Amino acid sequence: MPKLESVAALETLRQDIIRRRDPNKLCLSICSGTGCHAYGSEKVAAAFVSELAKNGLQDKVEIRRSGCHGFCERGTIVVVFPKEICYLKVKPEDVPEIVTETLIKGNIVNRLLYKDETGTAISQENEIPFYKHQSRLIFGANRHIDPNNIEDYLALGGYAALAKALFQMTPQGVLEEVKTANLRGRGGGGFPAGKKWETTRNTPSDVKYCIVNADEGDPGAYMDRSILEGNPHSVLEGLIIGAYAIGASEGFVYVRQEYPLAVANLRRALEQAREYGFLGKHILGSSFDFDVTIHRGAGAFVSGESSALMTAIEGRVGEPRPKYIRTSVSGLWGKPSNLNNVETWATVPTIINKGAAWFGGIGTPGSKGTKIFSLVGKVNNTGLVEVPMGTTLRQVIFDIGGGIRGGKKFKAVQTGGPSGGVIPENLLDLPVDFDELSRVGAMMGSGGMIVMDEDTCMVDVARYFLDFLSEESCGKCVPCREGIRQMLLILNRICQGKGEPEDLTTLEELARVASDIALCALGTTAANPVMSTLKYFRDEYDAHVKEKRCPAGVCKALFSYYVVPEKCQACMICLRQCPVGAIRGGKNLVSVIDQAKCTKCGACFEACPTRFGAITKLSGVPIPAPVPEGTTVIRKANPKASGAPSTP
Ligand SMILES: Cc1cc2nc3c(=O)[nH]c(=O)nc-3n(C[C@H](O)[C@H](O)[C@H](O)COP(=O)(O)O)c2cc1C
Repeated sequence: MPKLESVAALETLRQDIIRRRDPNKLCLSICSGTGCHAYGSEKVAAAFVSELAKNGLQDKVEIRRSGCHGFCERGTIVVVFPKEICYLKVKPEDVPEIVTETLIKGNIVNRLLYKDETGTAISQENEIPFYKHQSRLIFGANRHIDPNNIEDYLALGGYAALAKALFQMTPQGVLEEVKTANLRGRGGGGFPAGKKWETTRNTPSDVKYCIVNADEGDPGAYMDRSILEGNPHSVLEGLIIGAYAIGASEGFVYVRQEYPLAVANLRRALEQAREYGFLGKHILGSSFDFDVTIHRGAGAFVSGESSALMTAIEGRVGEPRPKYIRTSVSGLWGKPSNLNNVETWATVPTIINKGAAWFGGIGTPGSKGTKIFSLVGKVNNTGLVEVPMGTTLRQVIFDIGGGIRGGKKFKAVQTGGPSGGVIPENLLDLPVDFDELSRVGAMMGSGGMIVMDEDTCMVDVARYFLDFLSEESCGKCVPCREGIRQMLLILNRICQGKGEPEDLTTLEELARVASDIALCALGTTAANPVMSTLKYFRDEYDAHVKEKRCPAGVCKALFSYYVVPEKCQACMICLRQCPVGAIRGGKNLVSVIDQAKCTKCGACFEACPTRFGAITKLSGVPIPAPVPEGTTVIRKANPKASGAPSTP
C-alpha cells in the first residue's frame, strides 16, 4: 500500500473500501478477544472456515475475527450481519447448524439465542438487555473490526479525526476542543485531559512525549485490554491527535506483559499505520512527524502510576518518585511527557469528529461522555459495559447486569479497583460519575465494578484488597509499606477471630496517616477499602470483633459446618465428598462432622442436596454436641420438597 500523502488520498481510499464492501453480504463477526479465545473462539472460527468451504460459501460469507463484544459471560459470541443475529456460547459443534439454518436457509437457531427471564428468545443483538441499555460510543466499533485489518477501521471513518485535526485545526484549536469537551482521564483520578495536555504543550522543550497507559493492574478490570486488542487504531488515532496538539514527536504504549494478544494486535496496527502514512514522517503529507514504540511492563500494579511508569520505560525499576514536579512538565528522561489512559485516548477521535458540544451533551455536568466498566462478581451478566456518565448503579447492575446470581440478595458493589471503595444497597440509585463516587468514599478508578452478594464478608473484602496492595506496594515509603502491612495484620487478626475493639480505632488512625503522607496514590488511597467498609458495614466488623461471628460465613476461623440431625436423610453424599474423611455416618445413620478434622473446604455443604439442606454453617454460637454414634435418621415424608441449606 503506498503511503497516503493527503486527505484526498485518504478519502479516495475510504470510498474505495466502502465501494468494495457489500453491506448486504453475510458476515460472521466472531468475538476473538481474550475471553472468547479462552472459550475456544479460534476453533469456532476454524469450524466456520471449513464448513463454509464444504458448502461452497467461502466467497459469499465473510468471517471477521473481531475484538471483544463485551458479553464475556456468554462466549464464544457470533453475530451474523447484516441482520445482527446474536448467537451466544457457540461451540464448534454448533457451526454446521448455523451454516445450514441461518446462512443457507435464513432461519434462526433458537437454542443459541439469549433467553430472557420469561424464556423468550431474543435474536437481535441490540435487543438483548445487556446491550440494549448501553451506549457503546467507544466500545461499539469492536464487533465491526478485525483488529488486524486497518481497512475495517477506515471503513468506519477511522483516521478522519486525525485528518480533520491536521488540516482543519491548529494544535491550539485541538487542545481547546478537548478542554471544552471536559474529557476527564479514564484511568484513575479523572483529571481533565485538556488541562494536562496544555501543561505539556506550554513547557518549553526540544522533545516531548505522549504515552498510553495500558498497564491495567486492577484485579477484575480488562476494558483497556479489550479496547487495545479490539480497536488499536482508535487508541493510536487519539494518541497522534494528542501529540499534534501537544507538540510531541515520540509516543509510547506501556502495556502489561500479561496482555499478549493486545500487544500482537497493537504491533500489527502500528505496522499498518506506518504503511498507510498515519505514523512516521509527514503524516498524511503534513509537516507533522510522530512515531510510537511499545514498552511491555513487567506486571507490577504500582508501575501504572505515572512517574513509576515513566521510570520503567527509561529502563529502571518502575517505582514512583515524589512528584514535586509533575511528569507533564518533567517526565520521561526529564522531558515534558503527557500520560493518558487507553480509554481516554480512544475517546479523542470521537470528540474531534463530533465536536465538544456534542460530547458535552452526554453525561453529567462534571463528567462528560461515556465510561466503560468491567462488570464482574456475583452478577448474572458479567462483561464490559459502556454507559453515559450519570447512569445509576442500579441500572448497570440490574438492567444491564441482570441482577444477582442465584437469586441472592445484593450486598455491595466495589468500584475503582483496590484503591476504590464499597457502596451499599441504599446507594444503588447513585448516578455514577467521578464526583459522585468520590463523594460516597469510593472512586471511579479505571472502571472496575465488582458486585457482591449476601454471602460476601465485607471485612474479608477489605482484607483481600489490603493483601493485594501490601504485595504491590513498592516499599519505597514507610507510610505505604508499613501502614498497609499493619492494617493487613489487623484485618487478618479480625478475620481469625482475634480482633480487639481498639483495632478499629487503630485501623482508622493508620488509614488517616497513609492517606495523608504516602508517596504516591497507591498509598494515599490504600485505606479506601477499609474506610468504606468501616463506614457502611461497621456492624460486620463489630460482629467479628465482639461476637467472634462472621455474618456472611466466610471467615473460616469463625464458622463451622454442622449437620442438622433432624434434616439429615443419610444419603451419604457429604461423606463421599469430604476430602479428609471428617464425616462419619452410614446407611440410615445421621452424618456427623468431626470438627477437629474438618478443614472447612465446604465440599459437604455444596454437595448436600438442596431438598434436604441438612448442612448449615454456624457462626458465633456453640456447636451442638454430636449425636451419639448409631443415631438413625428421621425420614422426611416428602423428600422431594425443596429447601435451601440455611446459612447463619
Ligand atoms: C498505583 C497506581 C496504579 C495505576 N495504574 C494505572 C493503570 O493501570 N492504568 C491507568 O490508566 N492509570 C493508572 N494509574 C493512574 C496513572 O497514574 C495516571 O493518573 C493515568 O494513567 C493518567 O491517565 P488519565 O488522566 O487518562 O486517566 C495508576 C495510579 C496509581 C497510583
